Amino acid sequence: MLKLGVIGTNWITDQFILAAEATGEFHLTSIYSRKISTAQAFGSKYLTPIEYFDDLDRFFNEGKFDVVYIASPNSLHYEQSVQAIKAGKHVIVEKPACSNPTEMKHLVKLLRQNSEIFYFEAARHIHSKNFALIKQKLKDLKVKQGANLTYKKYSSRYAEFLAGAEPNIFSLDFSGGALQDLGVYLVYDALSWFGFPGEVNYYPVKLRSGIDGSGTAILSYEDFEVVLNIGKTANSYLPGEIYGEKETLLLDNAAELKKVELVDGAGNVTILSVEPEEQNPMIAEAKAFAKLLRDPGSLENKQIQQDWLALAVEVNQVLYELRKSAQIVFKADREF
Ligand SMILES: NC(=O)c1ccc[n+]([C@@H]2O[C@H](COP(=O)([O-])OP(=O)(O)OC[C@H]3O[C@@H](n4cnc5c(N)ncnc54)[C@H](OP(=O)(O)O)[C@@H]3O)[C@@H](O)[C@H]2O)c1
Repeated sequence: MLKLGVIGTNWITDQFILAAEATGEFHLTSIYSRKISTAQAFGSKYLTPIEYFDDLDRFFNEGKFDVVYIASPNSLHYEQSVQAIKAGKHVIVEKPACSNPTEMKHLVKLLRQNSEIFYFEAARHIHSKNFALIKQKLKDLKVKQGANLTYKKYSSRYAEFLAGAEPNIFSLDFSGGALQDLGVYLVYDALSWFGFPGEVNYYPVKLRSGIDGSGTAILSYEDFEVVLNIGKTANSYLPGEIYGEKETLLLDNAAELKKVELVDGAGNVTILSVEPEEQNPMIAEAKAFAKLLRDPGSLENKQIQQDWLALAVEVNQVLYELRKSAQIVFKADREF
């Protein structure tokens, strides 16, 4: 069993712990919070013995865990991952892994020097059955004409923002915004399904803090475009569409991928796959990480981890280029 330490005491950490424990491969041993009382309140629902920390150095250096799940505000992911790697812990870090390519470059260098450590960006949907299915279906399409992908979810923090506060996810200081938070899923889609684009442009709607509350990104390829519609200030129920010549692949949602359908040239719809509604959406990634972590010495596992890392590096680069095209500058961009 892998001993799991966690950073971040919001609902997403509960969801990951439940997914990780459901695989039968992880058990929670260690919790860090800025306040010990928060860590204890968070951990009290779990029935295993847990060690609690409110000091990050002690968490990493004295914590008896093998792998850390990091779900802190985006701007802290890099520093906390560096600390974890230096302390000999495997890392599962929530998306987006880093704020910019400078951080990513340093991280990759550190990983090269610590080749026994596995580092995963938790882009949950790329480990789902439907993600692989779409990749396979795209290989079968003779002609590809791009896609129109949408992920717009009204943020539970938006009301706070409208009332005058600046929650982390709407802050340049914390590397927030719609692109980093939700666009990351769609950039993963585009790069995995169509490869690296030739040119990218982002047209955001900026909010009071300078952050993008929503926006449209256009990824240009030689023969087509992939359009990404993202936002945290409204809900969209538009499906994603991937275009062949006459056929269209329909995705219920390009980041959640619960249902994939194929519409032929005559308009006939075939359901290709439907995920069960009640399933914890993080189980597939938890299983994928556990499979590799079970044998980190295996060359095959190392290669898979390297491939995922290479994709994370490309996603990070595209997110940065998109931000640059829209003059969105994070505090983290000025810190190196
Ligand atoms: N995969 C998914 O489906 C999914 C869904 C939601 C979020 N996420 C990711 O999870 C991460 C956390 O998101 P979130 O919405 O939970 O963020 P958040 O509420 O802003 O912060 C998460 C945790 O970090 C700590 N924290 C908050 N502000 C901090 C600060 N100023 N300095 C240091 N620590 C601070 C808090 O824990 P303590 O008070 O215990 O220190 C908090 O519970 C993000 O990277 C997000 O992208 C992923």
